Amino acid sequence: VTGEGLRTRVAAYRAIRRVHDDGAWSTRAVDAALRAGDLDARDRAFAANLAYETLRWEGTLDWALGQVLTRPLHNVEAELLDVLRLGAWQLLYGHVPDRAAVATAVDLARAEVGARATGFVNGVLRGLGRARLAWPSQETDDGLGLALAYPAWVVAEARRRFGERARAVLEGGNAAPGVTLRAVGDRDALLEELRAGGLDATPGRHAAETVHAPGADPGALPAVGEGRAVVQDEASTLVGRAVWHGVAELTEPRVLDVAAAPGGKSTHLAQLGARVVAADLHPGRAGQLADAVRRLGLGDRVAVLAADAGAPPLRPEAFDAVLVDAPCSGLGVVRRRPELRWRVEPGDPARLGALQLRLLESAAAAVRPGGWLVYSVCTWPLAETAEVVAGFLAVNGDRFAHADPATLACGAGAVLDGDHGLQLDPDCDGTDAMYLAAFRRTA
Ligand SMILES: C[S@@+](CC[C@H](N)C(=O)[O-])C[C@H]1O[C@@H](n2cnc3c(N)ncnc32)[C@H](O)[C@@H]1O
Repeated sequence: VTGEGLRTRVAAYRAIRRVHDDGAWSTRAVDAALRAGDLDARDRAFAANLAYETLRWEGTLDWALGQVLTRPLHNVEAELLDVLRLGAWQLLYGHVPDRAAVATAVDLARAEVGARATGFVNGVLRGLGRARLAWPSQETDDGLGLALAYPAWVVAEARRRFGERARAVLEGGNAAPGVTLRAVGDRDALLEELRAGGLDATPGRHAAETVHAPGADPGALPAVGEGRAVVQDEASTLVGRAVWHGVAELTEPRVLDVAAAPGGKSTHLAQLGARVVAADLHPGRAGQLADAVRRLGLGDRVAVLAADAGAPPLRPEAFDAVLVDAPCSGLGVVRRRPELRWRVEPGDPARLGALQLRLLESAAAAVRPGGWLVYSVCTWPLAETAEVVAGFLAVNGDRFAHADPATLACGAGAVLDGDHGLQLDPDCDGTDAMYLAAFRRTA
């Protein structure tokens, strides 16, 4: 079997099954399948790409398969459908010869589903290879969604949010994110160290502590193992910077992070000089947060607790700054979690936006007079970003004044949103599509 033979398809298939069956994150499912797969480096790269791309293009692949299937897609059993999707991605996008794509899918069906399935897989994929698909116009939400691998409703949301830029932002969500680190301590020393190790490391565009290291394996970097660097997207680092911006003139400011796990922003703030109370609703996730704090040697600067941000067990007005890095739809991190776009439901932005507003209002009670409040989410729909800020100001505008987002931008080319918040995105800023807004509590 060649490097692009059955074993790579089996590894990709098993990863995809875990994502669909157990709701696993694709990165974890792919890592686990590759570890179990006994593949060399080239095959691992092929299998990982095949799994991620098949997950990314899932809805488009289902549409294409629907054009040639004689029964409705939902009547195809889940195991078989994933075999078909893997084959369809290779046929439509994979630069794999049609015969190899069909033959390996048939072999995969035999190995993983059973001999009874082989005739069906062969027939459907040969049909797809021959078909002239009638792609809808990209002027429509359906058509652009199929062309860029997003559900039509996400395209509609993006058009409402970004207007003319919708296409570029959605395309940005399909780009490879590379590896981004936050230096702990001297960034130039970290750059030197990574370059000496053969990496093409470059400074971030916006945050003073960010380093891009495309091609790095973060788990294998001594700097990460020894706590001199943390894996963090530049957008998340900018959120930490935005919190710091509001308290930087204080000595050891008291900062509350109400949704803190796994701890990227809390540990950043502690390293900048804050005393942090870091809370998370889920005890298991609070445990991961406590591990991160220990690993980075920050136990004396960060207190961890499991608590609901909707009713934090804390004295009111006790903090110089409060961060609400709220649970969200995650559409801003689809570069790293390609399957997410098909999991989010059309009602999620409104539902999550309502939750975010509730958490923001509760957290606001912990801000002392004159203190600073930051709201952030790794997403972009209006209902989770600008509308939350508008809802917050409508009720709290007499006690909180929104800060000029331009002062938070650190030079980012981000879209300033109705003068209230800052929308970062991969197209403009090369970052995750994070949104942030900040407010000063009136004295
Ligand atoms: C976007 S993540 C936070 C990421 C974190 N700030 C970081 O930088 O590593 C949102 C977090 O909110 C937590 N969460 C969800 N609902 C919550 C609630 N009601 N109260 C507190 N935390 C909550 C989730 O467990 C999740 O860890």
